[in-house]
Amino acid sequence: MLSPTIPSFFVFLFLVLSSSPNVFCCHQIERDSLLSFDRYISSAATPLNWSSSADCCEWEGVTCRSSDGRVSHLSLPSRGLRGTIFPTFILNLTFLYHLNLSRNQLFGPVPGSVFSRLRTLDLSYNRLSGLIFQANRALPISIRTLDLSGNLFSGSIDSLFLRLGSHLVQFNVSNNIFTGPIPSSICSGSPLLETLDFSMNKFSGVVAPGISGCSRLQVFRAGFNALSGLIPLDMYNLKSLGEISLTNNQFSGPIDNNISMISNLRILELHVNELSGGIPPDIGLLKNLEQLQLHTNRLNGFVPPSLTDCSNLKTLLVRNNLLEGEISTLDFSKLQRLQAIDFGNNSFTGEIPGSLCLCRSLTAVRLAYNKLEGEIPTCMASLKSLAHLSVSDNYLSNVAGALEILEHCDNLEVLFLSRCFNNETMPDLLNLKGFQNLQILTLGGCQLKGRIPLWIAKLRKVKLLNLSYNQIYGSIPTWLGDMPSLFVLNLTQNFLSGGLPRELGHLPALISDNSSSDLSYLALPFLFDSLQYNRLFNLPRGLKVGNNRLTGSIPKEIGQLKLLHTLELSNNFFNGSIPTELSGLVNLERLDMSGNHLSGEIPRSLQRLHFLSAFSVAYNDLQGEIPRGGQFDTFPASSFEGNPRLCGNVLHRNCPVNSSVETSLEEEAESSSDIPFGIGYFVGFFAVSIPLVFYSPWSVNDVSPGNIHPQTMSM
Ligand SMILES: *[C@@H]1O[C@H](CO)[C@@H](O)[C@H](O)[C@H]1NC(C)=O
Ligand SMILES: *[C@@H]1O[C@H](CO)[C@@H](O)[C@H](O)[C@H]1NC(C)=O
Ligand SMILES: *[C@@H]1O[C@H](CO)[C@@H](O)[C@H](O)[C@H]1NC(C)=O
Repeated sequence: MLSPTIPSFFVFLFLVLSSSPNVFCCHQIERDSLLSFDRYISSAATPLNWSSSADCCEWEGVTCRSSDGRVSHLSLPSRGLRGTIFPTFILNLTFLYHLNLSRNQLFGPVPGSVFSRLRTLDLSYNRLSGLIFQANRALPISIRTLDLSGNLFSGSIDSLFLRLGSHLVQFNVSNNIFTGPIPSSICSGSPLLETLDFSMNKFSGVVAPGISGCSRLQVFRAGFNALSGLIPLDMYNLKSLGEISLTNNQFSGPIDNNISMISNLRILELHVNELSGGIPPDIGLLKNLEQLQLHTNRLNGFVPPSLTDCSNLKTLLVRNNLLEGEISTLDFSKLQRLQAIDFGNNSFTGEIPGSLCLCRSLTAVRLAYNKLEGEIPTCMASLKSLAHLSVSDNYLSNVAGALEILEHCDNLEVLFLSRCFNNETMPDLLNLKGFQNLQILTLGGCQLKGRIPLWIAKLRKVKLLNLSYNQIYGSIPTWLGDMPSLFVLNLTQNFLSGGLPRELGHLPALISDNSSSDLSYLALPFLFDSLQYNRLFNLPRGLKVGNNRLTGSIPKEIGQLKLLHTLELSNNFFNGSIPTELSGLVNLERLDMSGNHLSGEIPRSLQRLHFLSAFSVAYNDLQGEIPRGGQFDTFPASSFEGNPRLCGNVLHRNCPVNSSVETSLEEEAESSSDIPFGIGYFVGFFAVSIPLVFYSPWSVNDVSPGNIHPQTMSM
């Protein structure tokens, strides 16, 4: 066993010896240049440790040419580097042609010298700033790849800067704060360009002609800017294009039928603009098209029948336009790869096309907000990968039939059926076996008659159940409190009677959070309480039973639902006092108990609800002093009106002197054990405002599968 290792030791020795002539190959002047770069940079994690060896060619991130030991590459991406780029470090690195400092924390301006001689410059994802494309500098003739994306660069792009970049292949300035027009002239100086990415900046105005000079262009992105006017006409000449993304701008006018000549096109994203006219009639010529996103524009007319010839389509989103016509005449059978289709928020008529059932890959179908009639086609039972179906706001019939068909879609997670049936009986699915993956079920606004059906108890994964605006009578079943996943229950506006079951105070998903690990995205986003959601996890948790005929007192067990955001009990016949235990609803943001027969005082313990931003006990029979402090100082008089025996500053009604002395003592005793109000408020502010920012319908983060118009869509 020893013998083979001895020769290999000599081989090793030979290698070590033979490599020794290269040890000091690094040129002193290049070594000093690199050290001057290092001097301004620190790395929080692990230092570069460059001084450890005299040969700079051995340093981390440095590559030298084998012929003469000159530094050719400096590549230190994602290395935790912090600092500024020293202006002259590159001047003596005469043979450096590849510089990659992507994903670090470099800040400040980029010295003009950096542009000399490089072929590849990747400074993406840093915090570099300043005006970079000025006329007094120029792109070096050598440059092929320039990636400045994800920084804070500003100013406009001067076309003089671009005049020399004749070898440029990739140009990416996305996600900065550039202004002014898009430099279409870049294509006359750089005819070899293959990718151009201007997206997520503040470019504005009309796109001037010139793009067609880039005859090899494959990717053209300029989404999320303020561009206007027509889609540049000469773009349609670029036969090499595989991707066009001009989403979230103010482009207007028609989509030219010449788009159908760009035969390599795989991705066409023109959504969230002001485009008008029809979908180009010859679009079916785009045999390679995989993604067509035209939603949220002003497109009108019918969908050209040729569209269903695009047999590679995976995503087809045309919601929120002015499209019309009989959808049932479209033959979807050729779209075997189709995964998501959204025809919602248009004026389509006719029945749901049975040919959709032949699209075996379908995971998401949205036809909501149209004028569709008829029934859910029986063949839909065969859509085994369907996860998301929304047909809300149509004129369908036979809700029982619909559920019997759809329960066979084993992967169905989201089912929106609100306002699409009218005046039928609440289906009684005695033998229901399916829907075992259902997480959202909405059947609101259908005027369904009957009781809350027992089959709902079988839906063990349902998180959101909306049966509001129906004609449901009888009592609220106690088994609802056993539904393991339920955290949004909306029974508003029915004829429910009896008490609010104390069992609802045991809803597990409102007590401890076991769904927080489920961060998966929905196949299509949806609106809920006028905010857009892409994940179920973010939904505000709520219990809404307002506008019914409920009686009795509010069970104190409800106070255990500490994850609840909204509690709506308004306009019922609840009596008795408000349980002090409601102070356990520590995440509550909205509490509406108005329009009942509640009596007694408003429990002072409710001051502990630091996130409460909307509160009403109006029109009850409450008395005594309105609590002071905490969020109570922010509620208007209308929160308390209609209670003649309530008193307090906000109602301009003084409280009797003796009672206020007692309560102020009580207040002190309580507040000593409280979180200081300042902190609670501060935390509350962030907890409430962050979701609003991220899930606003116009949030820039919502790139795919695209935005939904806020007013026109809900579940
Ligand atoms: C620095 O490099 C030397 C030589 O390669 C090595 O022995 C030493 O462990 C390194 N130090 C750190 C902190 O990485
Ligand atoms: C820079 O390095 C990152 C990380 O290795 C890599 O993903 C990226 O492609 C590199 N940039 C260029 C232009 O090669
Ligand atoms: C431009 O850079 C961004 C951020 O690094 C990246 O997501 C995008 O894919 C790049 N664009 C192109 C066309 O490669």
